[in-house]
Amino acid sequence: MSIHDIAEKIQELKKKRKAVILVHNYQLPEVQDVADYLGDSLDLSRKAAETEAEVIVFCGVHFMAETAALLSPSKTVLIPSASAGCPMADMITAPSLRELKKKHPEAIVVTYVNSTAEVKAMSDICCTSANAEKIVRAIDAEKIIFVPDKYLGGYIAKKTGKDMILWQGYCTVHVKILPEYILRSKKDHPRAEVIVHPECTAQVVNLADRVLSTNGMCSYVKDSDCKEFIVGTEKGMVYRLQKENPDKKFYSFDPEPVCQNMKKITIEKVLSSLEYMKHVVSVDEKIKDRAKKSIDKMLEYSRTN
Ligand code: 13P
Ligand code: SF4
Repeated sequence: MSIHDIAEKIQELKKKRKAVILVHNYQLPEVQDVADYLGDSLDLSRKAAETEAEVIVFCGVHFMAETAALLSPSKTVLIPSASAGCPMADMITAPSLRELKKKHPEAIVVTYVNSTAEVKAMSDICCTSANAEKIVRAIDAEKIIFVPDKYLGGYIAKKTGKDMILWQGYCTVHVKILPEYILRSKKDHPRAEVIVHPECTAQVVNLADRVLSTNGMCSYVKDSDCKEFIVGTEKGMVYRLQKENPDKKFYSFDPEPVCQNMKKITIEKVLSSLEYMKHVVSVDEKIKDRAKKSIDKMLEYSRTN
């Protein structure tokens, strides 16, 4: 079957199942093209909380689908590939967070959404790259434990001047974007602006003109007078930016940053997900309510603060 035929079948089945397709900005081009909503983790979690659909097909990595399942407990949440995980989310476990909390009982725990539900359940509040600064600024505490991303945490600590204890996790994709790639690309494209994701290392962030979440990149580029951009994040982002801004130019690097986990979701798997209602994402009853509370708090903070 051609991609076009598969996409048509997906639309038919979507109606039959009363489903909505939520797609992260790093997904394959053909998967982005069948999205009802394409977005970053914050945006997609809002959509999951608001949807009237009965089924959510989540095209992203597991923690994102799990967040959707927490926010929409009455819906069936499907992930087209059961093995699409996020290595960073597995860099902190519940027992290690428990130990850290014991050492700093006075600290407030801010957890990046790239984490398991079990870790979220032990946290005071979650954040994404789009609202981390806002949330950390709004917290009235002497000390903040930030897990699991040391680069996002370090960037926010520097911006806010807060005392933050950082877990030493990182994104295995963004860490491979080296400062020399940025310098080389700036030399090749002297008029281009450098936009990077805050999961990049501090050296890369220091070379950037803007540090933005994936949706932040979309809005920034759309409103900018600049015509060329060096994109310091996963390559799926370039497809969306180019499609929405055909008059502008976008440059990735050689080698291109690819999140292999995001790419496990193919258009064929989206179709079979709807056909066979697989793979259902569920969260352990024992931790469900506590994990949801930390995400609800994030959504409330990003609305009001
Ligand atoms: P965004 O929330 O900016 O989409 O980032 C999620 C992510 O996993 C980046 O690697
Ligand atoms: Fe996880 Fe990095 Fe992939 Fe984002 S790009 S899902 S942080 S491995």
